[in-house]
Amino acid sequence: MKRICVMGTGYVGLVSGACLADFGNAVVCVDIDEPRIERLRGGEVPIYEPGLEELMGRNRDRGRLSFSTDIAFAIKSCEIVFICVGTPSLPTGEVDMSYVHAAARSIGQYMEDYKIVVNKSTVPVGTGDEVGAIIAEVRPDADIDVVSNPEFLREGSAIDDFMHPDRVVIGASSRRALEAVIDVYRPLYQSDVPMVLTDVQSAEMIKYASNAMLAAKISFINEIANICEAFDADVSAVARGMGLDLRIGPRNLYAGAGYGGSCFPKDVQGLAATARRAGVDAPVVQAIDASNVKQRRRMVEKLRALIGSFAGQTVCILGLSFKPDTDDLREAPAMEMIDILLQEGATVRAYDPVAMDHARQLFPALLCFDDPYTAAAGADVLVLMTEWNEFRNMDLPRIQTALGSPRLLDCRNVYDPREMAELGFDYVSVGRPRRSPGDAVETAADWILPGRFTPRG
Ligand SMILES: NC(=O)c1ccc[n+]([C@@H]2O[C@H](COP(=O)([O-])OP(=O)(O)OC[C@H]3O[C@@H](n4cnc5c(N)ncnc54)[C@H](O)[C@@H]3O)[C@@H](O)[C@H]2O)c1
Repeated sequence: MKRICVMGTGYVGLVSGACLADFGNAVVCVDIDEPRIERLRGGEVPIYEPGLEELMGRNRDRGRLSFSTDIAFAIKSCEIVFICVGTPSLPTGEVDMSYVHAAARSIGQYMEDYKIVVNKSTVPVGTGDEVGAIIAEVRPDADIDVVSNPEFLREGSAIDDFMHPDRVVIGASSRRALEAVIDVYRPLYQSDVPMVLTDVQSAEMIKYASNAMLAAKISFINEIANICEAFDADVSAVARGMGLDLRIGPRNLYAGAGYGGSCFPKDVQGLAATARRAGVDAPVVQAIDASNVKQRRRMVEKLRALIGSFAGQTVCILGLSFKPDTDDLREAPAMEMIDILLQEGATVRAYDPVAMDHARQLFPALLCFDDPYTAAAGADVLVLMTEWNEFRNMDLPRIQTALGSPRLLDCRNVYDPREMAELGFDYVSVGRPRRSPGDAVETAADWILPGRFTPRG
């Protein structure tokens, strides 16, 4: 059992803290946000993440997980500090390192004996040295090792990702620190999770390079979808055909409204900025984000093509969070769409299973409803922005009756164009041909299914 201090109680800090406690460690999670810690101490979970409340409750009850604003005490009494603070983008695309630097200063200020400082925040290559230098500046006799242990969890499946990761990456410059951090992850090591043990800089780069690659796959398939639209090709068939190539793989090959969230946009921009600062030309990395920005705008233009001018129209948006199973609205494509619609004089009605409270704070004019059918009532068009599972099973005839006009822009390719046409929707999706009722009743996929082949006249 190790004594661990986790700095930052956001998505990564809370999930890491709860999981590390579940591994049997004594974990104190600290934050500078006092009301947040108050809520956590009262048993409230300030974010929506499936399974987190139960995991936190169990470990709190067993005395392994606690929350505090007493950063001094938490640092003094731990062996290992995990930095899990935010690293947002600056307007220049550079990474705002102020929270990481402040965390490093606190460690220097309060530490009394040897500490292992583990950087779990996503940070530009070279940050390990920077954190070490800041601590040494505050406390010249500091006995520390800085380790990089980037986090790969995805919001919405964060606990499963933490407990069953594809790999654990640990970058260290001392054997003592490396062994201690491996020991923290021993339960995973025992269940054969691959460990990538490397130097600090390479570990930092692994995280940026991984996120840039995942984002690149999304931007790439979005561009392919846009080309498909010009030729009536179907991007879902194209993605399947590509994804079965093991060198490509099927994941992150879904065309849609562009990526969002607190990681891909800022990490791709952060990597581009790191390259710029180092004087390295990285045109592919730069293009990933530029393509994503265009894709989001393309959704707005698709909507304009479907309904004309936005002024005076009522638009129903289903799904606000940047992806399903999270309440995170950071960089969510729906936020950009709503902003433009409101600015151009539309009325926006919305429904999301968990993210409406926060969205209302961002857009006081947004009208939120308790279910998709009420949200759709009387709207001129419905726009599906996030593919929550409950939207997959919606009663579409009921939606059609609720809408003032049966028009639907599906930014996530959730529905079948033929079924939608047969139901009487004016239906537009991403990279898939539009269909009219009775149009293209069969496709090649139908012909090879037993009993479905009907010879043509
Ligand atoms: N959210 C994700 O899915 C995800 C996944 C992998 C990696 N990451 C990375 O992990 C890091 C944290 O992300 P997040 O989404 O959890 O951030 P977040 O913004 O949700 O939470 C950060 C928390 O840190 C606190 N904080 C800031 N300065 C502090 C300090 N000096 N001491 C103590 N607490 C402090 C803030 O008050 C906030 O509660 C980022 O670098 C992010 O890129 C995030």
